Amino acid sequence: MTRSEFPKDFLWGAATSAYQIEGAALEDGAGPSIWDRFAHTPDTIANGDDGDIACDHYHRYADDVALMAQLGLQSYRFSIAWSRVLPDGRGAVNPRGLDFYSRLVDALLAHGIRPNATLYHWDLPAALDDRGGWTNPDVAGWFADYASLMYRTLGDRVDMWSTLNEPWVVVDGGYVHGVMAPGHRSLHEAALAGHNLLRAHGTAVQAYRADQRGRIGIVVNIEPKEPASDAAADIAAAARADAYMNRWYLDPLRLGSYPDELRDIFGAAWPAHSPADMTLIREPIDFLGINFYKRGVTRYDADAWPIHASLQPQPQHAMTTLGPGWEVYPPALTRTLLWVRERYGDIPLYVTENGAAFYDPPHTIDGAIPDPLRVYYLREHIRAAHAAIEQGVDLRGYYVWSLLDNFEWGAGYGPRFGIVHVDYSTLVRTPKESALFYAGVIRAHGL
Ligand code: FCB
Repeated sequence: MTRSEFPKDFLWGAATSAYQIEGAALEDGAGPSIWDRFAHTPDTIANGDDGDIACDHYHRYADDVALMAQLGLQSYRFSIAWSRVLPDGRGAVNPRGLDFYSRLVDALLAHGIRPNATLYHWDLPAALDDRGGWTNPDVAGWFADYASLMYRTLGDRVDMWSTLNEPWVVVDGGYVHGVMAPGHRSLHEAALAGHNLLRAHGTAVQAYRADQRGRIGIVVNIEPKEPASDAAADIAAAARADAYMNRWYLDPLRLGSYPDELRDIFGAAWPAHSPADMTLIREPIDFLGINFYKRGVTRYDADAWPIHASLQPQPQHAMTTLGPGWEVYPPALTRTLLWVRERYGDIPLYVTENGAAFYDPPHTIDGAIPDPLRVYYLREHIRAAHAAIEQGVDLRGYYVWSLLDNFEWGAGYGPRFGIVHVDYSTLVRTPKESALFYAGVIRAHGL
């Protein structure tokens, strides 16, 4: 096997998000978010879990940053909890919330770790949800104000920003299927929310350009859709699924229009969009963040609302991720990166999330947590990323999801995605063998 060399400035990092790790719910003047509410609604989260304590990162951030430094991470992608800094989502600022992120950034910089901040990773202030949340067109202005506050506070030290994390999940989970906050099921709301998320993104990018000098982008999750068979119905189902998941956000962001398929999927719920909005959404960005976990082998399914397509169940085998039951198929990452470049042009890309949940040993064995499947997953995906670079993709960095085992949304604390194990009763962190493997990749700048 020849050595995979990565470009000189390629960044190696790990990612987390606020609600999944911070804990300290409503502490130090923070307001509630839709996830605080959703997780406290009966029957929403596996095992009745919630993010009240999570990894207690809010109090343990200094140790966590020291651990990142020990692993040699060059960059850390985190998200800011909007209602921690603006408890009502707008208006009065909570200085203690701002101070937390300021201290986190200082700690990162003190260890030579480059901060990469995401403004929205799903935790809308509950007070804004009371005003319609993402379905209210005013949300674009609220988001730009919040974004500007964060640029003013951290922009002297943070030069990599993302507006939104995975707008597709926000809408599909939160407004179509109701399995994520705010738990609605309405195509009408979903179409509005999706459009307003993109408008909010555009206004936040414009606000950034006003007086900031770093780089700003957006993070989307891409899952290449492959028809389960040669049957015309499966091929059409895969195309619909691709439009719905992969192109709904990237097409307007990069090409200025929504995929035609969305009109068929949404029917009367699909509104007309003004040319001014479409221009706002297409505001130039500096990079795209791609979250990649798996491919989607897709078949026609009359019962699968609203796209009449569902994922073909994959045989369970040793390499299947056991947590969410996701197939492991590394070549799809290469294909995804090539597809993004082909369809959306030669914009700098980052893999902003990639990782897997497996059943790790429940406790250390001679001080270690062997997780060979995760090592395999990371190694093969890093190779797949390298293959894309060899084919000319301008990939600038790779972030493992996740630094820590954490609150995996509706699945609670069951699936463990961390390269660092968290004992949820003691909150003790133990790097798994995958963390040590990844530290070696970073040291060698390749594998
Ligand atoms: C992504 C999310 C992240 C985490 C991983 C497993 O869709 O961005 O928060 O849940 O999946």
